[in-house]
Amino acid sequence: MKYLVVGGAGYIGSHMVKHLLHAGHEVVVADLEAPVQGLQWVCLDIADGHGLDTLLSDYHFDAVFHFASFIQVGESVADPDKYYLNNVCATLSLLEAMVRAGVKRLIFSSSAAVYGDPEYVPIDEQHPKVPINPYGRSKWMVEQMLEDFDRAYGLRSVSLRYFNAAGADPDGQLGECHLPETHLIPLILQAAAGRRESVTVFGHDYDTADGTCVRDYIHVADLASAHALAVEYLLAGGATTAFNLGNGLGFSVQEVIETAREVTGRTIKVNQAPRRAGDPPRLVADAQKARSILGWQPGFTSLQDIVRHAWAWELKYPWR
Ligand code: UFG
Repeated sequence: MKYLVVGGAGYIGSHMVKHLLHAGHEVVVADLEAPVQGLQWVCLDIADGHGLDTLLSDYHFDAVFHFASFIQVGESVADPDKYYLNNVCATLSLLEAMVRAGVKRLIFSSSAAVYGDPEYVPIDEQHPKVPINPYGRSKWMVEQMLEDFDRAYGLRSVSLRYFNAAGADPDGQLGECHLPETHLIPLILQAAAGRRESVTVFGHDYDTADGTCVRDYIHVADLASAHALAVEYLLAGGATTAFNLGNGLGFSVQEVIETAREVTGRTIKVNQAPRRAGDPPRLVADAQKARSILGWQPGFTSLQDIVRHAWAWELKYPWR
């Protein structure tokens, strides 16, 4: 198959490109950054409709994977324009170009942020969607646009609602690096490696067993395998829908730090700080739908494996 991966140079997108190339597919990456994997790269902003028209008419893609978005909740509150412009308007530009070119299948990176403060856990796909920040609202807006684009233009899509993407390529080639880094596991491992003084825990007074927030960490390689199954589902005629992607296991911030201490054997200095705005106490997925409809079976459900792979990558590329 021939696939376009938008945002294929990013953390999750690069793992996807590797997965698709390994499975023998032809992959073109559209990104403003050069991808690590894959020789076919187009430096393109998807807000550029003419550029997209040229790209989509040059290749006859079987489907598009769309990973390109801004992902920082706090920044989305401070600068919502940036998030609506990129995550919503640029995605609309991509959808329009796909309709013009007759490319009718899309896999969209959505988020657990569409649910807002959970009314119950584990969270299934039926849970009310009441996002509590512009980032979550941008993802939910796109999901609703996708339903309308299916009804009106026959563009079928799968929205994959990630819980906490984590870990690194088990082969050690790819890993997680955001600038600035705001995600828990890379920050903990940078502290373990001595690249930062300490890690700060936001909030000790949540209604959880140890008072710190609980999250469902899902290995990035398992996210990639779910996307591959999702595109097969669409190619087989599957209807537009959304799936949660998580392990259904919740780990507190404190448990993640303890696991990192065990895996790395290093001292990790911890500071305490007040709660971070907009953090729900507990986010845990019910991903039964992805398991039963897509046949998805995550391979790295243990937090030890997730942290071990991230640590191996941290040690391999300490200069970045
Ligand atoms: N945390 C700390 N200290 C830090 C960083 C994080 O204590 O320095 C805590 C957070 O408060 C949270 C947990 O660690 O309780 C995980 O935080 P992350 O920032 O790693 O991840 P989030 O749960 O905030 O965010 C994830 C995705 C986002 C997405 C969000 C909602 O990374 O892209 O889920 O779905 F928006």
